[in-house]
Amino acid sequence: MNAQNGHHNMLRINADRLLADLDRLRCFGAQSTGVVRPAFSDADMQARYWLREQFEQAGLRSLIDGLGNVLGFSRNPGKAILMGSHADSQSTGGWLDGAMGVIYALEVARCLSESAAHRHLAVDIVAFQDEESRFVGCLGSRSLTGSLDHPTVQNAVDKDGVRLVDALNHAGLSGTPREQLDLGRYLGFLEAHIEQGPTLEAHAMRIGVVTDIVGVRGLKVVFKGQQNHAGTTMMAWRRDASTSLYEFAYRINQCFAAHAAPRSVWTMGRVKLIPNASSIIPGYAELDLQFRDADEAQLERFASLAHEVRDLMTQSSGVDIEIVEARAPIKPSRMSEALYQHLEQSAQEHVPDAWMHLPSGAFHDAGIMAAFMPSAMLFIPSIKGISHDFAEDSHRDDLVLGCQVMASAVASMFGRQ
Ligand code: GLV
Ligand code: MN
Ligand code: MN
Repeated sequence: MNAQNGHHNMLRINADRLLADLDRLRCFGAQSTGVVRPAFSDADMQARYWLREQFEQAGLRSLIDGLGNVLGFSRNPGKAILMGSHADSQSTGGWLDGAMGVIYALEVARCLSESAAHRHLAVDIVAFQDEESRFVGCLGSRSLTGSLDHPTVQNAVDKDGVRLVDALNHAGLSGTPREQLDLGRYLGFLEAHIEQGPTLEAHAMRIGVVTDIVGVRGLKVVFKGQQNHAGTTMMAWRRDASTSLYEFAYRINQCFAAHAAPRSVWTMGRVKLIPNASSIIPGYAELDLQFRDADEAQLERFASLAHEVRDLMTQSSGVDIEIVEARAPIKPSRMSEALYQHLEQSAQEHVPDAWMHLPSGAFHDAGIMAAFMPSAMLFIPSIKGISHDFAEDSHRDDLVLGCQVMASAVASMFGRQ
């Protein structure tokens, strides 16, 4: 392509090296066709030490900070671009979610350093920690931008009750300082990611340029009744926490559907019944209610509706229902048009008319970074739109193309080819 177009100085990625490193990162925590690499697990930390080594070999000054973020700083002076994504996975995660954006950043940094016309450019790279919310969603990017407070770190626990401070200790990070980015150094932040949805594939598009990222909120709904015998307790006498939970979930599905915006989504992906036994009326139940939208007002509306459903139900049942915040909210964010126009141009050059704009229904570290510097995201297609599952995958030619589009866009952001 470069010869055909006459771009002799065009930055070229090394496709074999890119794919080999993606495959290598996949080995850490590999299970079936996916990865199990939750933040601070042994597999996650091993992946981070390996990444730090790769960043160093790419000529960057590299470190792992006190929250497990892996950073590689260019030794070049001048304004820099920050690139990266997260290296942790869901508890049953796909091999590309996060990992792809980290390896793209590494490959772009390497190919810049190998090109005489580009080696003076400053690109810093990062593998953020705990984007996937084992403890705090986007923990690493929150911390690096100075927007993570001390109590949040002290109080965070995972779904099994493990404390973040204990996980840090186990990972050997307790004494390591936490980095904060010098925000004035950056022209912007760039994150590449798999789409994790069906839109690009459905439109037969090869590249997505993200316009905005959803905001997310999570509520924990707690139901307190009375545990009792499932045979002897007449229906009218029961204070069954599970019945109350099922009714609440049903009502949420009705009432959210009636008030939803076109891209609003909600999920009740975790419940807990105690004691969770067939012949015992549960005395306690918990439900996670998560909802997302690109509009903060819509998130407010859903939060109020959840409280209205709770108020309505507590009037008529003997079960106490309490709603608490289950996660640190993420606000909806807009990507920087000034930045993503370079992605558009680069995509148009490499795959004319096979790219499109789209919003992101997944949240990303770019959604945190956007409050601190111009940020942009590039998507490549996910096969069958599947993600947060071992079956997550993308075509190899799309993996290569996405990185090339990213590399050319980075050069263009510095005013080069
Ligand atoms: C992050 O992976 C999300 O759940 O969107
Ligand atoms: Mn991700
Ligand atoms: Mn994810």
